[in-house]
Amino acid sequence: MSQHIRIKDIAAYAEQEVTLRGWVYSRTGKGRLQFILLRDGSGQAQCVAFKREMQPEDFELARGLTQESAIIVHGVVRADERAPGLPGGYEIGIRSLELVQLAQEYPITPKEHGTEFLMNHRHLWVRSNRQWAILRVRATIIKAMRDWLDNEGFLLVDTPIITPAAGEETTTLFEVDYFGEAAFLAQTGQLYNEANIAAFGKVYCFGPTFRAEKSKTRRHLIEFWMLEPEIAFCSLEELMDIEESMVAYVVAQTLEKHQQELEIIGRDTDKLRAITPPFARISYDEAVERLQALRDQTDDPVRKAELAIEWGEDFGSPHETALAGLFDKPVFVYHYPTAVKAFYMTPVAGRPEVCRSVDLLAPEGYGEIIGGSERIHDHDLLAENIDKMGLGREAYEWYLDLRKFGSVPHAGFGIGIERTVAWVCGLSHVRETIPYARLLNRKYP
Ligand code: 4AD
Ligand code: MG
Repeated sequence: MSQHIRIKDIAAYAEQEVTLRGWVYSRTGKGRLQFILLRDGSGQAQCVAFKREMQPEDFELARGLTQESAIIVHGVVRADERAPGLPGGYEIGIRSLELVQLAQEYPITPKEHGTEFLMNHRHLWVRSNRQWAILRVRATIIKAMRDWLDNEGFLLVDTPIITPAAGEETTTLFEVDYFGEAAFLAQTGQLYNEANIAAFGKVYCFGPTFRAEKSKTRRHLIEFWMLEPEIAFCSLEELMDIEESMVAYVVAQTLEKHQQELEIIGRDTDKLRAITPPFARISYDEAVERLQALRDQTDDPVRKAELAIEWGEDFGSPHETALAGLFDKPVFVYHYPTAVKAFYMTPVAGRPEVCRSVDLLAPEGYGEIIGGSERIHDHDLLAENIDKMGLGREAYEWYLDLRKFGSVPHAGFGIGIERTVAWVCGLSHVRETIPYARLLNRKYP
């Protein structure tokens, strides 16, 4: 029996007899010649069934194959520039064929389907070319982030998913019944990272996070994945250096490894090639001035209303989009008003109405992909904020403890995987960036 190979490696087996195992992506042909586009998860290859070269029953089997039938193909690899496939350029001359399962009529056909239909069939949709390409890019983006951090001496330290208290703010908490007591799904792993830096110096956590957010925007998921680095003895400026290098590395790795996928997705890669350090850094004050100038420049009343902002207000999507539109690369906006940010952020010395926070806004309208800050390391100030926000001291005793035993200036950030993937792939909605999206009105399949 010939050697089983994966399609991605096909070029190494020219003129050899191999075995492929996979699913029928499509079948065309007439009479004595059948073309089967086979996918095996690693790629796609055209397999040619030629009546004269096969047993009659095998050829009949090939002729009757339906979309998504599972088969095992034995054949010879032939170089052929015109052969379609991923990577393409090679085809298989089928010698023999085994049927594993003949698929029923497959609901997803090459014709157009509505998004709701596709999302309802997500368990099957993940097999389609475009979804295959996006989820492969997602895996690389996650790996690139982790590789970058691992190389920089960060330690992966896992943080809990079930938590006793809010990590960000109380309005988006997802409550679960913990043996009769209230507990919450993690909004962030940050607070635990802050404990872990005193043990390891530089850490990150990576996992699913939850926000019971009643938003139906193209940027919001109920369950999303966040990677959160935290660094002891780190300033906001140093934090921006880290974010910038990591994001540039992630984009460079995607470009290096996924030309094929980016082409399937239809991404303009020139825009990605521009993503190199440094990224512009502007203060919230300047951002508001720039937005007000944009508002004054337009005659369109709808646009004017969209861009309207007063100092002190948080940015909405149109503001982030407009700001990021002024740059070809991601842009940092730092020192947001303290009132619109989380309870743990350090106030700016001498100007407590703003805090040592920084968001990274992605270009091309993608908005915030990273949120980060310097954390309050003074015990009393932090305790005061916890009280002021009505968070309840009890659940935060451990967090306050960290400010009693070798408290140091520290900073960290969280990068949303799905928003990053949406930007890098140039997608209009985050729902395609995660295998099984949890949205306001969707938890199936
Ligand atoms: O700005 P956020 O809420 O920050 C934190 O959670 C901090 N504790 C992170 C830290 O400093 N360690 O969220 C960080 C990022 C956002 O910039 C965004 O990319 C993503 O997480 N994010 C979401 N992505 C999808 N759907 C949602 N509902 C999201 N909420 C936040
Ligand atoms: Mg944020």
